[in-house]
Amino acid sequence: MYKIETPTGDWIEPPKGRCWGATEVVFKEYLKDNRVYFPNGGSGRPRIKQFRGEEKGLVPMTWWSSEFAGDNEAAKKEISALFPNDEAFGTPKPEELIWRVLTIATNPGDLVLDSFAGSGTTGAVAHKMGRRWIMVELGEHCHTHIIPRLKKVIDGEDKGGITEAVNWQGGGGFRYYKLAPSLIVNDRWGNPVINPEYNAAMLAEALAKLEGFTYAPSETRWWQHGHSSERDFIYVTTQNLSAEQLQALSDEVGSEQSLLVCCSAFRGVSAAQAAERWPNLTLKKIPKMVLARCEWGHDDYSLNVANLPMAQPAPAEPAVNKGRKTRMDRHTADLFGDDEGDVL
Ligand SMILES: C[S@@+](CC[C@H](N)C(=O)[O-])C[C@H]1O[C@@H](n2cnc3c(N)ncnc32)[C@H](O)[C@@H]1O
Repeated sequence: MYKIETPTGDWIEPPKGRCWGATEVVFKEYLKDNRVYFPNGGSGRPRIKQFRGEEKGLVPMTWWSSEFAGDNEAAKKEISALFPNDEAFGTPKPEELIWRVLTIATNPGDLVLDSFAGSGTTGAVAHKMGRRWIMVELGEHCHTHIIPRLKKVIDGEDKGGITEAVNWQGGGGFRYYKLAPSLIVNDRWGNPVINPEYNAAMLAEALAKLEGFTYAPSETRWWQHGHSSERDFIYVTTQNLSAEQLQALSDEVGSEQSLLVCCSAFRGVSAAQAAERWPNLTLKKIPKMVLARCEWGHDDYSLNVANLPMAQPAPAEPAVNKGRKTRMDRHTADLFGDDEGDVL
């Protein structure tokens, strides 16, 4: 924390909250060796000269100027044009920068993932460039910024950023999902258990999804929580089922249908005996079956959930309705299926 005299005669200190990168002794050696450079005509903060061949690690090989890729100042203007008087984002990235990156890295129709969406710049740019996108954001600004921003992009109301450069006119849509709480949590002994926040219906829906069944609880058959075909069903219960209960279930299901039974445990029979005695039932234990679906320590986390929620086909549009209003209707219907968005 020493003062340095610049060639212009000013005495300067390190920026607030920082310290110099070299001790005073080392700095003086650098000075003697003519390795210190003072920018701004000699009045700026000193920089250590580093010569080719001395660099540690990878050095940048290209330089993107602010004329080429924008800067934080431009990005702030973009955000305040969308959200006047908003100070939520201190250092947003300019759309132009993301445009350059996506131009290099992607083709039209590709899927762009931003798992820390922030103000939603990456999704907005991807959308204007005809890429598909997934954004993930846990902050409330998902609702206050990202969703309104993408609505403006879709409705052709966002005139800023790269809109003019790519001749963006509006269009497209998106779906919004709210993540459910984690299905598995550790109990106080560190054992994995089903999260107590899950009620019976949430648990049945989650297991149906994981096991590749469509969640569709029957109003008349208590053991039908979902189906994978006309004759194959899933039943989810946190009970410890007795042999008598399993027999009753098997009788209800009958020989023409099959049932996947997800339960906490079963008693009175071994798994092998159960398979032989009730061929129309498949027994799986929770949470072991859920853990078996989880993948740990992979380099590649390919999504292995087979029945991802799909968009409902849009109703046929009468020719007279084509245009912005119809796009908006479809987009809001997709987005606000219910107050909270769909739960994934
Ligand atoms: C620096 S911002 C991202 C900027 C953005 N990617 C861009 O290109 O401008 C980081 C964001 O990640 C969000 N975030 C942090 N942890 C997260 C998590 N585990 N899941 C989702 N979002 C997260 C923060 O709320 C914050 O909005």
